[in-house]
Amino acid sequence: MSINTFGHLFRVTTWGESHGPALGATVDGCPPGVPIDAGAIQHWLDKRKPGQNRYTTQRREADAVQILSGTFEGVTTGTPVQLMIENTDQRSKDYGDIKDKFRPGHADITYFQKYGLRDYRGGGRSSARETAARVAAGGLARAALAALAPTVEIKGYMTRMGAHEIDRSRFYWDQIDQNPFWTPDATAAETWADYLDGLRKSGSSVGAVIEVVARGVPAGLGAPVYGKLDTDLAAAMMSINAVKGVEIGEGMSAAMLTGELNADEITMGPDGPVYSSNHAGGILGGISTGQDIVVRFAVKPTSSILTTRKTITRTGEETEIITKGRHDPCVGIRAVPVGEAMMACVLLDHMLLHRGQIGKNQGQIG
Ligand SMILES: Cc1cc2nc3c(=O)[nH]c(=O)nc-3n(C[C@H](O)[C@H](O)[C@H](O)COP(=O)(O)O)c2cc1C
Repeated sequence: MSINTFGHLFRVTTWGESHGPALGATVDGCPPGVPIDAGAIQHWLDKRKPGQNRYTTQRREADAVQILSGTFEGVTTGTPVQLMIENTDQRSKDYGDIKDKFRPGHADITYFQKYGLRDYRGGGRSSARETAARVAAGGLARAALAALAPTVEIKGYMTRMGAHEIDRSRFYWDQIDQNPFWTPDATAAETWADYLDGLRKSGSSVGAVIEVVARGVPAGLGAPVYGKLDTDLAAAMMSINAVKGVEIGEGMSAAMLTGELNADEITMGPDGPVYSSNHAGGILGGISTGQDIVVRFAVKPTSSILTTRKTITRTGEETEIITKGRHDPCVGIRAVPVGEAMMACVLLDHMLLHRGQIGKNQGQIG
């Protein structure tokens, strides 16, 4: 059994490996009539593209997307959309040394245990090159959301790098695109720059926390009980490489609160319900409330570091390894657009599900 597809109605299948000729996404279920061209998708891919600054891997990939099917005269036709990105800067020789060794923290050992063979060039299918395909699919989802629900706005940003967290009193939306870390706190960006320079020079790495917020999402999205909006969002974020934790709203911290502090109070405003706070992260009972949807995920430190580590070979001998090649010192930076893409795909999927079963919300308040 192999599962390379996610989504219920907006179904994304990704394919390809790190060092193969190309990778991409086949997207089935996109509504017809959505205005789209390669440039609109490229915009989002450029955000994830490697080698844009000294804090990301120096692999030079154009990540140029081609739309091979599913569009005609600038709009989707309702048939499968095939998105392809060629790999142009593979350096398989960087990986010759790890052919028979398992890199600690990578999927080398589990892929070998499961499949009995593995594409050792850059991790093959387990490589985060795969996330380029998700970002391409997310670009299409964003275009469909813009057509179906223009109020929806999705933004991701880093809130923590290692021990250094942002100060929320210095949170400015317009800062997010102004620094290499996609962080809303300009002071944190300066601290992180120095910190990451040191780590990069010593060949080390660090983890991060990314928050993705969707604003303007209407109330009613989510398909209880096994297709809850939070269930699908958590699965989507958890499927991203290196993600080890996902939270919705207050998340793990909710365990430390009392009911008085946690349950968001409701009053009646001129346009409907108003919540006093958003500990729920915009989701109650698996259904969106109309508040901001807030998802947070933790990304582990890059496993490929320039320190000698103990490992074993496929024949079971103990040995040591240094992972050469070009790597991100903090994968959290390039995980930001990936998280945004997953949010876009899940929200569009749920919008289509909602449209199919309910159409317009049935319960009117006031
Ligand atoms: C955008 C992105 C870029 C990544 N780049 C690297 C990298 O350069 N080096 C590395 O060791 N891991 C990198 N990773 C993480 C690995 O792909 C991941 O840790 C590995 O495949 C094992 O999977 P797991 O951590 O999900 O268990 C990256 C992850 C993301 C999301």
